[in-house]
Amino acid sequence: DGGAGAGGGRTGALSPPPVTDEVAQKIDVNPPKGTRDFPPEEMRLRNWLFHNFREVSRLSGFEEVDFPVLESEALFIRKAGEEIRDQLYCFEDRGNRRVALRPELTPSLARLVIQKGKSVPFPLKWFAVGQCWRYERMTRGRRREHYQWNMDIIGVPEVTAEAELMSSIVTFFKKVGISSSDVGFKVSSRKVLQEVLGSYSVPEILFGKVCIIIDKIEKIPIDDIKNELKLVGISEVAAEELLQVLSIKSLEKLEEVLGGAGEAISDLKQLFSLAEKFGYSDWIQFDASVVRGLAYYTGIVFEGFDREGKLRAICGGGRYDKLLSTFGGDDLPACGFGFGDAVIIELLKEKGLLPDLNQQVENIVCALDKKLQGAAASVATKLREKGQTVDLVLESKPLKWVFKRAARINAQRLILVGLSEWQRGMVSVKILASGEQNEVELANLE
Ligand code: HAM
Repeated sequence: DGGAGAGGGRTGALSPPPVTDEVAQKIDVNPPKGTRDFPPEEMRLRNWLFHNFREVSRLSGFEEVDFPVLESEALFIRKAGEEIRDQLYCFEDRGNRRVALRPELTPSLARLVIQKGKSVPFPLKWFAVGQCWRYERMTRGRRREHYQWNMDIIGVPEVTAEAELMSSIVTFFKKVGISSSDVGFKVSSRKVLQEVLGSYSVPEILFGKVCIIIDKIEKIPIDDIKNELKLVGISEVAAEELLQVLSIKSLEKLEEVLGGAGEAISDLKQLFSLAEKFGYSDWIQFDASVVRGLAYYTGIVFEGFDREGKLRAICGGGRYDKLLSTFGGDDLPACGFGFGDAVIIELLKEKGLLPDLNQQVENIVCALDKKLQGAAASVATKLREKGQTVDLVLESKPLKWVFKRAARINAQRLILVGLSEWQRGMVSVKILASGEQNEVELANLE
């Protein structure tokens, strides 16, 4: 009824209520499409996931960094026709500056590296966990806002850096219970394409564009790919050879086609040999079709995939040795990866590996009399000062209610503050698992 009748005693029920500040508008209680709320149970899961991201990063000696979610739009505008450009949340702020919600973290990282200049000790090993925004078509594991775990190494030109990064991802997977029979990495190098294009004298400036077109190979018909390649000036023969090479799934075959002398082959061979030493050979496979959809990659590229083929890429990354100069800085060798929070949760669900995360508060403290609320507060403070977690019952509640709550928050101890004990400097402590109850002196509360 639009609330028209709720005013009490108003005549003319058909006329709409006057719009005043006092009339509450009914809002949509859902978050904007493609975004999420994190109620406690979701937040516990998110914290658990991020904790694992952070632990794994620290295991390898990486330092955490962060950047603003809002950046200047120019940071994300690249001319190669990337999808990410069309998905940008961008607007003009009140000072007429073009700004954007970051769709990824790498450009911000590059900005910070340039800002720091040569004063920082290289190599930099940085990680970040941050929210990214992309106006994306919604599918399973793809949303308009997601969190990404990134690890990046700046200042190492050797493939040892890529190998190190992949070893961290494997460590993470193992930590959450995922094995190489669930997940693998497809690895290639953009130098493969570069070598093919080079043999047809395609100018280097087209390289980024060609990679972006080729990355769409599984999403659009092959004739459209050929057409797009033609439009940017790739001859039909060159396009045919590119597509041929992309179907190669073994390093031996690639070496036959490209010859053994190029960097593509030597980088990939080194990576596979390092993978063996790190102990994750069974996780990685060569696949020339992996190109990745971002223009700035220059060398090794990789993506994590679920072996059942049900989900989109779990993570992806690679080497981007030329990104800094696109922002006017001096180039530095760099590589890294982004690992989203959405697909991994889907995968853990599929495999029944989601952790059982319940709220856990060690103590629940309750006054048995309203007048003892202050006494209960002082008990809570005492315990909290000792590092114990305490849920303090803030109102007078029947004991039945308190027990229910204690069970829900998985409390180990119920501490009851009753008048006669309190006067003797004691409280009653009940161990909830055994039901054992004792009077404990306040000073001995632990
Ligand atoms: P990316 O491949 O665009 O790379 O994204 C990396 C990962 O972020 C994806 O594999 C996926 O897990 C997650 N992701 C991306 N978009 C979405 C989305 N719409 N919804 C949910 N998850 C998503 C990058 O962003 C590079 N900056 C990674 C990088 C870091 N390369 C070097 N350093």
